[in-house]
Amino acid sequence: QKKVSSLKDAYKKDFYIGTALSASQIEEKNAKEDALIRKEYNAITAENIMKSMFVHPQKDKYDFALSDKFVAYGEKNKMFIHGHTLIWHSQLAPWMEKIKDSTEMKAFMKDHITTIVSKYKGRIGSWDVVNEALNEDGTLRKSVFLNTLGEQYLTDAFKLAAAADPKVDLYYNDYNNEAAAKREGTINLIKKVRAGGGKVDGVGIQAHWRLESPSLQEIEESILAYSALGLKVAFTELDITVLPNPWDLKGADVNQNFEGSAKMNPYPEKLPDDVQDKLAQRYADIFKLFLKHKDKISRVTFWGVYDGQSWLNDWPIKGRTNYPLLFDAQLQPKKAYDSVMQLKNEK
Ligand code: G3I
Repeated sequence: QKKVSSLKDAYKKDFYIGTALSASQIEEKNAKEDALIRKEYNAITAENIMKSMFVHPQKDKYDFALSDKFVAYGEKNKMFIHGHTLIWHSQLAPWMEKIKDSTEMKAFMKDHITTIVSKYKGRIGSWDVVNEALNEDGTLRKSVFLNTLGEQYLTDAFKLAAAADPKVDLYYNDYNNEAAAKREGTINLIKKVRAGGGKVDGVGIQAHWRLESPSLQEIEESILAYSALGLKVAFTELDITVLPNPWDLKGADVNQNFEGSAKMNPYPEKLPDDVQDKLAQRYADIFKLFLKHKDKISRVTFWGVYDGQSWLNDWPIKGRTNYPLLFDAQLQPKKAYDSVMQLKNEK
């Protein structure tokens, strides 16, 4: 059998293989990065430029210059285009943070969601309508939306998005929502939105994961629980950190300044072979599970094209060297890439 030579071809019959794009990648500033993106991926998400502060910087001003380029890039390359994100407490424009009552907030949501979703109607395949509305225990996170409108804002958001583009798939997106308590919270949230007349087509599991966690069992239980509600399941921001978090250190004060600490940046030059192997095995285990449930999974998107540009080099501590993706800082495929490809080539 002929060997396939890219992620998107290998997984063509299973689910989309996506990547998040930075502003410079959307503008095709680096030919090597651009070639890699077009070769390996058939779905794109904008890592930042479609967030509220960028597209809607002032009350009466939208700026679609970069998001127009993003959508055109996807169309030119026949990629599935995902919109990220409409209603999120973070990366809001300063004026949005000052919205103080329900009348003002209702007007904001109607204008914001209707304008953005209608603008790309028929061109964008799915939207993260609401992002990260939950706390770890499954309760609703405090935000300017919850403060002004109560939980009704969730249903309103999904109704407004569906009204602006009845055919686009609408997702609720969050991190750690494969963990039991947050999963229950997610299910409650979606049931409430639906009971109130909102349409929810899918759930996005961000999948900012670690070598050790979450367990495959938690992931599998989540795929099953969400799809039992008739939801599409997308893994929307996949990466696997190999670095310790400050709060992993016994007794560590999270507020301590860890910048520049060797303990927090153990592999500044190169990822040691044994960790490279662990990462490859972890990716293989995860993709094996995805393949087992491919009929329930719509898309698997990596949060970045290659290690050199990952947000995880700067989070939760700035200036580290992390290795969370399938391509290294020189854009070369890693062992983890081979292990994900191997799953398809051995059949
Ligand atoms: O644009 C400014 C630039 O002008 C300035 O010079 C520079 C200096 O720090 O900052 C730039 O803004 C940065 C922005 O990314 C654009 O590059 C912010 O500092 C930085 O905090 C911001 O980080 C993004 C983060 O969301 C913000 O919350 C990451 O790139 C992005 O990967 C991350 O993505 C989120 C998803 O949207 C939602 N799920 C979690 C995920 C990871 O946090």
